[in-house]
Amino acid sequence: MNYKEKLDINRIPEHVAIIMDGNGRWATEKGQMRLVGHATGVESVREALTAATDLQIKYLTLYAFSTENWNRPKAEVDGLMDLLVTTIASELESLNTNDVRLLTIGNSDELPESCKNELLNAVKRTENNKGTVLILALNYSSKLEIKQAVKRIAEKYKQGEIELDEINEELIQNHLYTAGIPDPELMIRTSGEIRISNFLLWQLAYSELHFTPVLWPDFKKEDFYRAIYEYQSRQRRFGMIAEQLNELNKND
Ligand code: FPP
Repeated sequence: MNYKEKLDINRIPEHVAIIMDGNGRWATEKGQMRLVGHATGVESVREALTAATDLQIKYLTLYAFSTENWNRPKAEVDGLMDLLVTTIASELESLNTNDVRLLTIGNSDELPESCKNELLNAVKRTENNKGTVLILALNYSSKLEIKQAVKRIAEKYKQGEIELDEINEELIQNHLYTAGIPDPELMIRTSGEIRISNFLLWQLAYSELHFTPVLWPDFKKEDFYRAIYEYQSRQRRFGMIAEQLNELNKND
């Protein structure tokens, strides 16, 4: 089936987030080193980004490295960092040609110096691009993100900068890494795992979740379009009942 052709262009999500999973298994199945899976996964990053820009999706967030990933064997962590540096360097021109802006979320201060510099450079050099915003979650932990937000809000309260009554959802949202970015309408996870894994816990509160058995290195544009197609076939109710939504849609 050609999913792209079937999409309703008036109901394309504004923000799609992806947990790219299964690189290791993909490589092991082929008798290769796990890093070969990660390197091949870069091609799927290209596929997903091309599909997202094609559909004019405003934000694409990719879970590239979690705070827990530091516990992997050193060779794999080093390899992933090298891959990140070389990929960002080699893709920068293409990001600019395609009007893609790069942002990161997570504690990127703790990344190796070379990685930090490459990222800072790419973020700076794409800052005026107006197309899709590619957000890389790097050294990211959602619980840590929420903890840091709570601490900063508590500090402001202590300093008398805010009142207790001012602590509402909007204020919390504004203290997350994703301040100013709308919550994803859709989150995709590859490789058949059905978990959120400490990813955007606050932001995914009302997101539609799409789990596919496809391993990340096998994920192609068509898989992305399929996820959007399936998302469009669902009804997002936000706690309301179907009849209420139908009434609201009638008035659109
Ligand atoms: C999960 O597969 C994948 C990662 C932890 C890293 C993802 C990184 C890339 C695709 C390459 C670099 C990305 C960018 C944005 C340039 P896994 O290793 O957990 O697979 P497994 O569950 O099969 O072991």
